Amino acid sequence: MKVLVTGCCGYIGSHTCVELLNSGYEVIGIDNFSNSKKEVLDNIGLITNQNMIFYEGDMLDEKFLMSLFRTHSIDCVLDFAAYKAVGESVEKPIEYYTNNVSSVLNLLKVMKKFGCKRLVFSSSATVYGSPKKVPITEEDDTGGTTNPYGTSKLFVEQILKDLYQADSSFAICILRYFNPIGAHKSGLIGENPNGIPANLMPYISKVASKELECLQVFGDDYKTKDGTGVRDYIHVVDLAVGHVKALEKLEKEKKGLFIYNLGTGTGYSVFDLIHTFEKVNHVKINYKIVNRRPGDIAECFSNPAKAKKELGFSCQYSLEDMVRDAWNYEKKNKS
Ligand code: UFG
Repeated sequence: MKVLVTGCCGYIGSHTCVELLNSGYEVIGIDNFSNSKKEVLDNIGLITNQNMIFYEGDMLDEKFLMSLFRTHSIDCVLDFAAYKAVGESVEKPIEYYTNNVSSVLNLLKVMKKFGCKRLVFSSSATVYGSPKKVPITEEDDTGGTTNPYGTSKLFVEQILKDLYQADSSFAICILRYFNPIGAHKSGLIGENPNGIPANLMPYISKVASKELECLQVFGDDYKTKDGTGVRDYIHVVDLAVGHVKALEKLEKEKKGLFIYNLGTGTGYSVFDLIHTFEKVNHVKINYKIVNRRPGDIAECFSNPAKAKKELGFSCQYSLEDMVRDAWNYEKKNKS
């Protein structure tokens, strides 16, 4: 089976390529390297001992997409190509909506033209906005997103629902990721954000490696077990495996629109992450408590029951594994 992976060199795309190749899929990857590096391709090859077909190109380039589909008979698309920095999205809404929404419209147009009707789409728990309750199920309300990044995911989900309404021969799986962290155990691929990381795990790694001085803990006065924010951290390799399960589901069902949370179902606080990182990796994390970050919520974690029941998906990696693999990657790729 031939699968097209857009954004194949990014953090989640690259780990998913590894799992797809290891599961016997024929992978065609595309990337424009807007937030990734060419060496990732070699590293995917080193990990899997397999080659994938690769093209450098942009999803906003319809001619490029057309030529891809003309050259290869693609059975399914896994779409990871998107901008993902929440803060940046507030400053650059036009760029975010263009890159995250127009690109999907292009892709869908071309897919339809070539009769390719299977898609796995990377969505996010951010579509739940400020959840009324935790754990969050797929049936809970979406909306109330507070930044263009989140709203772009919500828009694409709606576009996919409308598309399926109009043409029920499509098979679409929307995956709502919680907080992916960690890296492949080889340390060859992982999260390598440009500039100063905005997310907790890469920031902790850079404080541990002394590249950054001190972690700011955004608030210790939330109504949570220790006052800091609680999230559902999921090992990126578990998340990647979730995509293979989603693909199997689409192959089996042939048509339908399916939505799944991909998380562990367990919430950990900022202090849990810091202290587990220190204990497992034997390093000290300097931190100080500062004010809450605007737009943050107290708690966000998934009810993973639907993915378990319908995809046979459950997470294999613990928080200890996540912080160990994140640190291993940081040490091997220290800038
Ligand atoms: N935090 C800190 N200090 C930091 C960074 C984060 O204390 O330097 C705290 C936050 O306040 C929060 C927790 O760590 O309580 C996690 O923050 P992240 O920025 O790592 O993750 P978010 O939950 O805010 O957002 C992430 C992604 C979004 C995605 C969302 C899905 O950045 O793209 O998870 O739940 F939509």
